[in-house]
Amino acid sequence: MSADASWWREGVLYQIYPRSFADSDGDGIGDLAGILGRLDYLAWLGVAGIWLNPVTPSPDRDWGYDVSDYRSVHPDLGTIEDLDRLVAEAGRRDIRVLLDLVPNHTSDQHPWFVDSRSSRSSARRDWYVWADPKPDGSPPNNWVSVFSGPAWTLDERTGQYYLHNFLPQQPDLNWWNEDVRREFDGILRFWFDRGVAGFRIDVAHGIVKDKELRDNPPAAEGDPPMFRTLGQRQVYNMNRPEVHDVLRRFRSVADGYEPIRILVGETWAPDLADLAAYYGRKDDELHLAFNFAFVFRHLDELELSPIVEETEKHLANLGWPAWTASNHDVGRMSSRWCGDDERKVRCALLLLLGLRGTPFLYYGDEIGLPEVALTREDLRDPVGIMGWPANPGRDRWRTPMPWTAEDGAGFTRPGVRPWLPFGPARPNVEDQRDDPGSVLSLCRALIELRRTTVDLRLGTYRRLPSPPGSWAWQRGDRHVVAVNLSDGSVSLEAPGGGKVLVGTDPRRSGERIDGELRLGPWEGVVLLSSAGT
Ligand code: NOJ
Repeated sequence: MSADASWWREGVLYQIYPRSFADSDGDGIGDLAGILGRLDYLAWLGVAGIWLNPVTPSPDRDWGYDVSDYRSVHPDLGTIEDLDRLVAEAGRRDIRVLLDLVPNHTSDQHPWFVDSRSSRSSARRDWYVWADPKPDGSPPNNWVSVFSGPAWTLDERTGQYYLHNFLPQQPDLNWWNEDVRREFDGILRFWFDRGVAGFRIDVAHGIVKDKELRDNPPAAEGDPPMFRTLGQRQVYNMNRPEVHDVLRRFRSVADGYEPIRILVGETWAPDLADLAAYYGRKDDELHLAFNFAFVFRHLDELELSPIVEETEKHLANLGWPAWTASNHDVGRMSSRWCGDDERKVRCALLLLLGLRGTPFLYYGDEIGLPEVALTREDLRDPVGIMGWPANPGRDRWRTPMPWTAEDGAGFTRPGVRPWLPFGPARPNVEDQRDDPGSVLSLCRALIELRRTTVDLRLGTYRRLPSPPGSWAWQRGDRHVVAVNLSDGSVSLEAPGGGKVLVGTDPRRSGERIDGELRLGPWEGVVLLSSAGT
């Protein structure tokens, strides 16, 4: 697949939280040189690309998502030369590197904001969203921050409020300002010129705000969970129609490069029609858009299959689905979807890697890494620190990758305290790597099967009849994916029979199927069907 412009459609992408992947210098914090040292593992696993959470300098109020310099590397993680080396070495292994772009907001320590808040007449005042208080001194409108509380903070000195959809230390940029747009064209080019293959765009749906700063309407029953939690529909501070102009602009910068550079959006869209719109009307916005409707369903056929089928419908003519069940914000698939039941983890991997679209794995998914219960003292995430104990935040699924069973887990040196604890139950890569029955071996076999099977990379999705609790679909001409997401055994029709290529139970690989496919509780297979169409 090396010279193939379609690696991002056909391959599996892998998300790395750099602080937690591999620590090369023994300070307890993962770094770029650590990732470099694990590239051979990633090549062995078979991924086509890696997305790194922010690597740019930051005061880390929100762990990299408060950027203080868009054109450099965080000293905790290494240097820009380390990043160049990582891109080059990954490329040598046919792995592309995507960075995280944070265009919605900066750090309050960013020189742009320092200048902006210095006076009402500063050169960059208009780079951020400033507004006068209401006559009673209260914030300009009712918008609330995703992280709780009002989305506005009063700057006493200049007497205006500034907008922050996240922490007060993350002021929102004003994307109505042409200079901001021009500056980001340059930032995209800066990284593309260094060989970066694309960006995951943070808050891609929220970059542009209502020009008139109108109040949001209240949330109603049936609204997406995010709106219900906030108590309001993000109609005027997110998902504005004007955001598409910005995404088109990013895309035209990306399209100026060879080989292809891709844009992947963090798109919390109210519904799947809105999600589809982020691909653009003529393939001129995002290449891939994360589907949170899918992420937030349970591992249940009745919940997931309608989302898949509706997504297929909305993206039928344009747009390629992206599937994930874990990330640094939402949690880990193995705990969130699977309750740390290994049978379920195996089914979830088979399902993710068997759908039509690009699967994104979050580091650790491949070994079934569970979330880690943390104490208040362990917390680093501001969301957990503010929300404890009701909301312990996101650190539980940002813990270090366990590579080995030894002290330091192969993540850091023995005796070093990692920036977040490992947790008690620790599957690890070394133990699983040579065990043909492990979750890691299954994951690798599924990735390998995709790499070598055009039906699984590009074939259409067609739902097949299956008993309640199970879900089966055909991919392309001859491949069938079937999972039993229930506690009872099921039997599916397999007209013409076939052969099991990969099963969640490795002993089934190679088994011949004759007209009927039996699946035990929480079992799945990929089948080469003899029937053909
Ligand atoms: C989305 C990121 O994924 C999340 O981790 C971050 O806290 C917010 N955006 C704010 O940047």
